[in-house]
Amino acid sequence: MADEHAPVPHPLDETAVEQCVNQAIAAFDEAETIEELKAARLAHTGDKSPIVLANRQIKDLDKNQKKEAGKLLGTARGRIQKALGLRTEVLEAEHAAKMLVEEAVDITAAPPRRPLGSRHPITRLQEKVVDVFTAMGWEVAEGPELESEWFNFDALNFAPDHPAREMQDTFFVEPAEAHLVLRTHTSPVQIRALLDRTLPVYVLAPGKVFRTDELDATHLPAFHQFEGLAVDRGLTMADLKGTLEHFARQMFGPEAAIRLRPSYFPFTEPSAEMDVWHPGAKGGPQWIEWGGCGMINPNVLAAAGIKDPEYTGFAFGMGVERTLMFRNDVPDMRDMIEGDVRFSAQFGMEV
Ligand code: FA5
Ligand code: MG
Repeated sequence: MADEHAPVPHPLDETAVEQCVNQAIAAFDEAETIEELKAARLAHTGDKSPIVLANRQIKDLDKNQKKEAGKLLGTARGRIQKALGLRTEVLEAEHAAKMLVEEAVDITAAPPRRPLGSRHPITRLQEKVVDVFTAMGWEVAEGPELESEWFNFDALNFAPDHPAREMQDTFFVEPAEAHLVLRTHTSPVQIRALLDRTLPVYVLAPGKVFRTDELDATHLPAFHQFEGLAVDRGLTMADLKGTLEHFARQMFGPEAAIRLRPSYFPFTEPSAEMDVWHPGAKGGPQWIEWGGCGMINPNVLAAAGIKDPEYTGFAFGMGVERTLMFRNDVPDMRDMIEGDVRFSAQFGMEV
């Protein structure tokens, strides 16, 4: 780039003027950007450029010399302007081409994707359970989470002084006269399903339940259960066992089995705790406690208005979180309620 203090040529010194023109042209050619060209333009055509300063000296010459100097400097300035114009065109074209590339939008490019969320494994496990039963022709039934004490306890043959009604297990909802509770299990749906439907009834009821349990690795105060209920002519314990065995195989593979141990629930008689033989358990194949079941207590059938002794039924209920724990090796139930998508995502497409 030409320096600002380049010597000012005498207006009649052809060689000096020629040098001045050449310096200007060289400076324009050296400019690689429009900004650089602007600086070269100021240095070689601005008010303080040698050629303009030389031009100013013409007025001090005598008449003949003025004409000659005017012609010489006029031609010189014309050449400088022409060179500047050409270089400007070149640099502007280069700039435009560059912007076209830089600002180009590829309309065929895939848009940036937002990471997909993931459905909760509890939801998907519930759907899997529902699928197993709907495939056998069972219906899905529902009931409210805010339930009347009568459906949650009385109709299910809980005695008025049954310990499960006490404050340490049940969330009672004010006002007390309304006799409302957060349902402690899905079993009240048994009564609702029987009142809503005509016999025979085969229903599966998944849903949220609540207990005043301390939060720890194996207990949540709000968790999920699914309830199975079948009422038909002449159903026996063998039907219960066969149904559970089919269910277990769908969930845990063809080698899964069911074992029943005598137990007590007010709404079933006889009652049993059921264990499942889990061939794929993390610590090797083993029996795992899965839930409760039994033949429906005749008092419960009576509460639902079924008096015909030909009709018998069975029911079962399991915890969804507990099932997910041992089916998918989740050591701590609290991970299921943190809402961290990384927990859900690790289950992939299949739970
Ligand atoms: C019942 O709730 C009975 N209604 C089950 C039943 C239905 C028996 C039909 C007979 C006929 P239980 O209180 O044992 O039973 O609870 C059933 C399952 O819920 C347990 O096996 C366990 O898997 C799960 N569960 C219980 N408490 C919690 C808790 N705090 N957090 C997570 N899961 C729990
Ligand atoms: Mg139990």
